[in-house]
Amino acid sequence: MSKFYITTPIYYVNDVAHIGHAYTTIAADTLARYHRAIGDEVFFLTGTDEHGAKIAEAARSSGKTAKEYADLISAEFQAEWQRLGISNDYFIRTTDPRHGQAVQDFLQKLYDRGKIYKAKYEGRYCVGCEKFVTDEDLIGGVCPDHLVAPTWHVEENYFFRLSEYQEPLIKALLDADDPNHYQVDPPARRNEVLGKLRVGLTDISISRAALTWGIPLPFDPSQTTYVWVDALLNYITAIGYADNPQEFARLWPADLQLMAKDILWFHAIIWPAMLLAAGEALPRRIFAHGFFTVEGQKMSKTLGNVIRPRELVEKFGIDATRYLLLSEFPFGTDGDISIASMVDRYNANLANDLGNLVNRTISMINRYFGGEVPTPVGFEPTPEHPEDTDLVAIAQGLNHRVAEAFDALAFSDGFAAVWGLIGRANRYVEVTAPWTLAKTDRARLGTVLYYLAEAIRLTAQALWPIMPDSAGKIAAALGTQLLIGRDVERAYGWGTLTPGTRVAAKPEILFPKIETRK
Ligand code: MSP
Repeated sequence: MSKFYITTPIYYVNDVAHIGHAYTTIAADTLARYHRAIGDEVFFLTGTDEHGAKIAEAARSSGKTAKEYADLISAEFQAEWQRLGISNDYFIRTTDPRHGQAVQDFLQKLYDRGKIYKAKYEGRYCVGCEKFVTDEDLIGGVCPDHLVAPTWHVEENYFFRLSEYQEPLIKALLDADDPNHYQVDPPARRNEVLGKLRVGLTDISISRAALTWGIPLPFDPSQTTYVWVDALLNYITAIGYADNPQEFARLWPADLQLMAKDILWFHAIIWPAMLLAAGEALPRRIFAHGFFTVEGQKMSKTLGNVIRPRELVEKFGIDATRYLLLSEFPFGTDGDISIASMVDRYNANLANDLGNLVNRTISMINRYFGGEVPTPVGFEPTPEHPEDTDLVAIAQGLNHRVAEAFDALAFSDGFAAVWGLIGRANRYVEVTAPWTLAKTDRARLGTVLYYLAEAIRLTAQALWPIMPDSAGKIAAALGTQLLIGRDVERAYGWGTLTPGTRVAAKPEILFPKIETRK
C-alpha cells in the first residue's frame, strides 16, 4: 500500500465553474479513485483561489464585498464538484484563516532565511494575468488572453530570490539521483521548462503595496502577498504545514500535481524554488495537460460559449459526462470537444457496446438459468475453446493495462483497454451463440454465461474510477458488489464471481440511447 497525494489547481472565483475546470478535476478524481481501488492511501485536494486584483474587481462590479463574492462562487464550485461525483478529501479556500496563518509562517521563514528582500519595481502589469508582463507575453501590445494593454506599475515590493534556483532546479529536473528530483510531464513540457530555466531566472516580486484583498506579509503588513505565492502554498497549508506536522509529514511531498499548460511556469519553476528556499521536499511529479477548445473556439465569456458542467450532466448524466470529457482527445495534448461527437460516442460506446452487453447477458442468465449465475464446467479455459482463452486473457490482463495507462495519464489508452474487453465480450456472444447452445449443450451454455458475467464484473471494476455510479449499478445487476480498496487480488482476478449469485430480474437501462437528428 502506498500513499498517493494528488492535487488540482485551485480555481479562481472570478468566474463560474466551467468544463475546462471540470476536465482537470475529473482527471484527478479518476486517478484518486483508481488509487483507492487498488488499496492506496489517497489524499485528493482541490479548492478555490480567492485573493487578488481580479477577484476584488469582479466583486466590486457585482456590488458585493470580496469575501461575500468569494463565498458565493466557492460554494458554486463545491456544488458543481458534488454533482460530478468528485471525491476530494479536502476543499481548500485561500480565505480560510488556517491557510492565511500558514502562508504567513512560510513567508516569515523565507524572510528569516534571507530569501526575500525589498526593492523598487516598475513595469507593465496585466491585471487579468495578475503579473508583470514582458514583450514576449504580448501580441500587438495587448495581452492575448485578456485583450487589454498592460498598465504601468511602480511600487516598492518584496522580492523572492528566484534567480538563485536556476542551477538547483535544472539539476533536480535532470538528475534522477538528486535528492530533490522532480518530474515534469509530458516530456515536451519538461523540455519547455528546461528551456526556460536555461535562459535564466530573475527575482520575482511577491507582494503588492496597493492591493488590500490578500494576505498581509508577516514582516510588513502594509503589503499583501502576491496572489500566486498565496495560491501555490495551498498544496502544503491544506495538509497541515503550519498546524499538523504529523499529517504534513505523512502526505508531503505530493505524488502528482495536475494542471493545464497555462500555469506550468508557476508550478514547475516558481513553486519548486519556493519549496527549496524553505527547505521542503519537491513534488514528485507535475503533469500539465493540454487546453481544449469547444467546436473549434476558445471558451470565453465574451464569445458566450462557456459550457458549465451541469449542462453536460443534464444531457448525458454524471458518469457519461465524466467519461466523454476525459476521452474526447488524448490527455496531455490540445484538443477540441464537440457535443455532436460526444453524442456519437455516447451512443456507440455506452448505449450500444457497454449497455447492450450488460443487458443481454443478464437477460440470458434470467432466461436460461432462472436468474442465477451458472456454474462453469471449469474456471480455467480449455484448448478446445480458443474463444474462452482469448476472453480470459484479456480480462485478466485488463487491470495491468489500465494501471500502465493511468500511470502515464494516458486515459484514452486505459479506456481503449476496457473497450477492448467489452468488444471481445460482445464478439464472444456472437461466436458462442448462446441461443443455439440453449438447445444443444446446457453445460457449455453455463460456462459461456459465467464467463460473460465475470468479464462484465471485471469491466465494472475497471470502470469505477471514471464511472463510479454506473460501475456500482452494473455490479449490482450481477448481484454482487465492487471490491474497492480491499481484496485487490480477488477484485481484479478471474473467477471471483460466485456461481449461484442471483442477478437482477430486469436490469435498469444505464445509458438510454440519445436520438440524433438526421
Ligand atoms: N487560480 C489559478 C491556479 C492556482 S493553482 C496554485 C488558476 N485558476 S483558473 O481558474 O484559471 O484555472 C486554470 C486551470 O483550469 C487550468 O490550468 C486547467 O486545469 C483548467 N482549465 C481551464 N480552462 C481549460 C481548458 N479550456 N482546457 C483545459 N483545461 C482548462 O489558474
